[in-house]
Formats: sequence, C-alpha cells, structure tokens
Amino acid sequence: MSPGDLKALVRSVPDFPAPGVLFRDVTTLIAHPAGFAAAIDHLAARVRASGATLIAGMEARGFIFGAAAAARAGLGFVPVRKPGKLPVTTLGVDYDLEYGTDRLEIDPTAIRPGQSVAIVDDLIATGGTALAAAHLLREASAVVTHAFFVIDLPDLGGAQRLRDAGVTVDALMD
Ligand code: PRP
Ligand code: ADE
Repeated sequence: MSPGDLKALVRSVPDFPAPGVLFRDVTTLIAHPAGFAAAIDHLAARVRASGATLIAGMEARGFIFGAAAAARAGLGFVPVRKPGKLPVTTLGVDYDLEYGTDRLEIDPTAIRPGQSVAIVDDLIATGGTALAAAHLLREASAVVTHAFFVIDLPDLGGAQRLRDAGVTVDALMD
C-alpha cells in the first residue's frame, strides 16, 4: 500500500482528549495487517536511507512504529519514556503538548557518543514531543538529523519547529 492509501486507515475523532482537538487515531491503521506492514516498510526504508544506526521512539505510540521499524531496518531501538519508568539514572526534559504538558526521559548509556539516531513517532503536532526527544538525544551526544512520522499536522507548525532545530522531517501523510 502507498502512503496515500494509508490515510484512509486513520480514524479521526473530534473533541478528544479535549474540546476542539481533532484526534488522529492510528489504532485503526495498526489493526489493518497490510496497512501496518506497509507503514513499517515505508518508515524502515526512509530511516535506512537517512544513514541512522539507531531509532528512538517516544512513549507510547512511538514505541509501536519505532520498534517495528527498527526491527525491519535491522537497527536497535531506544525507548524515550514518560517519567519514572527507567531503572537507571536518566536524562529528562519537561515539554508542552497540544493538550497539556509532560516529561520524557532516556537512558543516556543507550547511545554511543556521535551515533546517528533517527526519531520515529506516530504523529507530529506542535513538535513539542519531538523537540524534547531531539534535545535529550543530543544531550546524550547523539547526532540527530532526521525525524520520521506517520502523520504530520502541518497547521500546528511542529515540523517547521523541528526543521528550525536542524532536523529533517519526513512524514508518510499530512
Ligand atoms: C502524542 C503523539 C506524539 C505527540 C505529538 O503523544 O503520539 O508523541 O502527541 O504531539 P506534539 O507534536 O504536539 O508534541 P501523547 O503525548 O498524546 O502520548 P501517547 O503516545 O502516550 O498517546
Ligand atoms: N497528539 C497531539 N495532537 C494530536 C492529534 N490531533 N491527534 C492525535 N495525536 C495527537
């Protein structure tokens, strides 16, 4: 399936999780065998072409796409976790969301100094999550040049914020 075909598999839910938010729900895409496989194939091919040697994915939906794409691309996967989940000394950062605030943490020893790490997540909206992840990974001495998403919501400006931070943004669909 082409990225264009995958768009029809994403469910749109108005007013979730807060009034005025149009929630783009990927659970319908991942429940579709051919659609999920195609999404992972496209992401894995793009990550490999970027030259990255490790994928970082953000809890929780970034785990679904990032971990599967890493396995498909023959790469390792680093979980970027919500607070208090990692059993080691972490690097952490607080960030703003389209509908609230949150915190992300990583295990800095998961990354070799200078290693090229690609970010993978289901969706970029304001870019707060991806920027926070890029910041953390760079603090852990990773080189972060590319971020890959299933969905970009361009009206929310996140992809541009990421580009302004020196990260090339690629999404399967707007
Ligand atoms: C969603 C989504 C991205 C982020 C995008 O995650 O999976 O990680 O929001 O929004 P942003 O570009 O405005 O930062 P959420 O924090 O809702 O957590 P979840 O994956 O646990 O559902
Ligand atoms: N994360 C942030 N904004 C979102 C949206 N509109 N739909 C799904 N996930 C999101």
